[in-house]
Amino acid sequence: MNEAPPRRGDEQFAGQVNSMFDRISGVYDRMNRVMTAGLDRTWRARAAERSRLQPGQSALDLCCGTGDVALVLAERVGPEGKVVGADFSRPMLDLAAVKPIPAGAAEVDFQWADALDLPFEDESFDAVTIAFGARNLADLDRGLEEMTRVLVPGGSLVILEITQPQRQPLKGFFGLWFDRVVPLLGKVAGDPSAYEYLPESVRSFPDAPVLGSRMDAAGLKHVRWTLMAGGIIALHSAVK
Ligand SMILES: C[S@@+](CC[C@H](N)C(=O)[O-])C[C@H]1O[C@@H](n2cnc3c(N)ncnc32)[C@H](O)[C@@H]1O
Repeated sequence: MNEAPPRRGDEQFAGQVNSMFDRISGVYDRMNRVMTAGLDRTWRARAAERSRLQPGQSALDLCCGTGDVALVLAERVGPEGKVVGADFSRPMLDLAAVKPIPAGAAEVDFQWADALDLPFEDESFDAVTIAFGARNLADLDRGLEEMTRVLVPGGSLVILEITQPQRQPLKGFFGLWFDRVVPLLGKVAGDPSAYEYLPESVRSFPDAPVLGSRMDAAGLKHVRWTLMAGGIIALHSAVK
């Protein structure tokens, strides 16, 4: 399998991203655990906390992939709550749908949707989360507009993303890890192009302050962010 990596700016970018995630769905969870040494679970839990969701509320986990954030949200809102996990890769959704729902959690409705044209009414959710998805959107501002539209007034938007560390020594580590180690792991996993795309997609994504200003421009309030893992992970949140 040796497809070319998705190229931002290419007319076919969204389709290339879509087929890349279809292809890597089977190795996706394992690669995440290996690449992050299991820390991804902690970052997802922090994102769920930042949503400020309460029992009985509703949440949309956008670009839900294999469903790990949606399942944490389901525990937060409890059996009376509602969680929708939405993604445009059917194989990722199929893997999400067979994961066990934790005891005392809400059921999760995993459904196909394009983040740039959401099939939900205005003001449908108390919180929207997107983990490691924003970087893959063909049009970030359109995505932010859609996420904001489906939030209730006062609802929270939470964005978890990889970001480029600005300071040494993590800056050097980022180069080594993403440019050397991750592509090698991609070869072992059988899809080198997907794991060449990963560092490229991080480099072409806005840094934390710029993403914050794009959230401001989408009309969101109280935009703030926290850098984690020495500045490699950014957790943004805002209120509609
Ligand atoms: C890196 S994965 C993240 C999955 C999951 N949120 C996680 O934390 O592991 C990115 C996901 O975004 C989805 N995606 C990218 N662009 C999308 C779009 N326009 N609409 C819906 N899903 C999209 C991909 O199919 C993929 O499952």
